[in-house]
Amino acid sequence: MQGEDSNPGWGTKIPPATQHGKKMSLRFKNAKRIEGLDSNIWIEFTKLAADPSVVNLGQGLPDISPPVYVKEELSKIAAIDNLNQYTRGFGHPSLVKALSCLYEKFYHNKINPNEEILVTVGAYGSLFNAIQGLIDEGDEVIVIVPFFDCYESMVRMAGATPVFVPLRCKPVDGKKCSSSDWTLDPQELASKFNSKTKAIILNTPHNPLGKVYTKEELQVIADLCIKYDTLCISDEVYEWLVYTGNKHFKIATFPGMWERTITIGSAGKTFSVTGWKLGWSIGPKHLIKHLQTVQQNTVYTCATPLQEALAQAFWIDIKRMDDPECYFNSLPKELEVKRDRMVHLLESVGLKSIVPDGGYFIIADVSMLDVDLLDMKDSNEPYDYKFVKWMIKNKKLSAIPVSAFCNAETKSQFEKFVRFCFIKKDSTLDAAEEIIKAWSRQNS
Ligand SMILES: Cc1ncc(COP(=O)(O)O)c(C=O)c1O
Repeated sequence: MQGEDSNPGWGTKIPPATQHGKKMSLRFKNAKRIEGLDSNIWIEFTKLAADPSVVNLGQGLPDISPPVYVKEELSKIAAIDNLNQYTRGFGHPSLVKALSCLYEKFYHNKINPNEEILVTVGAYGSLFNAIQGLIDEGDEVIVIVPFFDCYESMVRMAGATPVFVPLRCKPVDGKKCSSSDWTLDPQELASKFNSKTKAIILNTPHNPLGKVYTKEELQVIADLCIKYDTLCISDEVYEWLVYTGNKHFKIATFPGMWERTITIGSAGKTFSVTGWKLGWSIGPKHLIKHLQTVQQNTVYTCATPLQEALAQAFWIDIKRMDDPECYFNSLPKELEVKRDRMVHLLESVGLKSIVPDGGYFIIADVSMLDVDLLDMKDSNEPYDYKFVKWMIKNKKLSAIPVSAFCNAETKSQFEKFVRFCFIKKDSTLDAAEEIIKAWSRQNS
């Protein structure tokens, strides 16, 4: 092994920089495209919540059991030799077939499984392929605030400029605040579109607010996309998780939108198996082919046994779509009970929450708890970061700060909110309830 100060010897000698007092080659410096993207909310807070004594309502990670048949399919497949080898790069044949059969029911047109669907490494993979494959340096991409954090970094990695537009809360006059009270101002949205706008990223049902966009709201976005000849990247990973009185609409089914929309789904969110990291993009061949180009030159293909098991799981539920047992129907029913439980719990201790119409997160205004955070070291952090760190340390309860879903300029508008995940076993929610109630007793 070479000494720390010696020339690495694999090329020209490069002028040294220093780090921690040691000489370091400038060649080791990050590429410009990742400049400033080194911190990540999931890495930071997953580490903090890793202590088993912490009740984890942070990351969107179910601790309920995934459906039995989903797990059984995977274990059966592991025993089949050829299903342990590489499969078709753009999606295992049986999976793309199952996906086309499922989604044709909603799109009311044929979906070509080989040309109009791409299976990816999670929905993250779809977002990455879409942004890398379709967005150029100098383009503008409209991002609605708050947003799933990687939208901004992926747009920046592509050399494009994110243009932010906030969801704003309508006055609610003392009644319960719901995610539907958060809306885009159509004029403000329209003002963000121009000839440089290459795409808008939409997320419905929304993380972290739980907003389910109405048909009318989506029509406003669709009209602007058509007027400005803009693409739409529609992240619909929580598509099945919509609660009573709400309906999920796919913007790709609106007139004039199929040809300009990539719709993204996730096996992790559909079947509560986030560790499988399988996702998919659906769209017209003229767009999907560019996502395929990125995939074939990056990860090339996804895990075969997981894709086959996912296909088999889909077939089971595709055959019983109108049955309450179908997971697409039973999971939202199960989660609606958990959502209501969380709303009541937060209300019972005087915390105002925003009742989500979809997804599995609820956000609450924690500013009224008036926690003394003076001992939190890094005073430059937004209030919600400090609050959650304090709560993990002192109350053994984790959540996610909502300002993590904001660009630098809008963080202050959201820093009084934290996000709790409620796709959790009753025993986990019981433990959270105990902590929150004891905390409230101490305060009263
Ligand atoms: C809105 C949204 N999009 C994408 C993802 C990533 O999904 P996956 O785990 O399938 O990559 C998540 C995960 O939490 C999400 O909330």
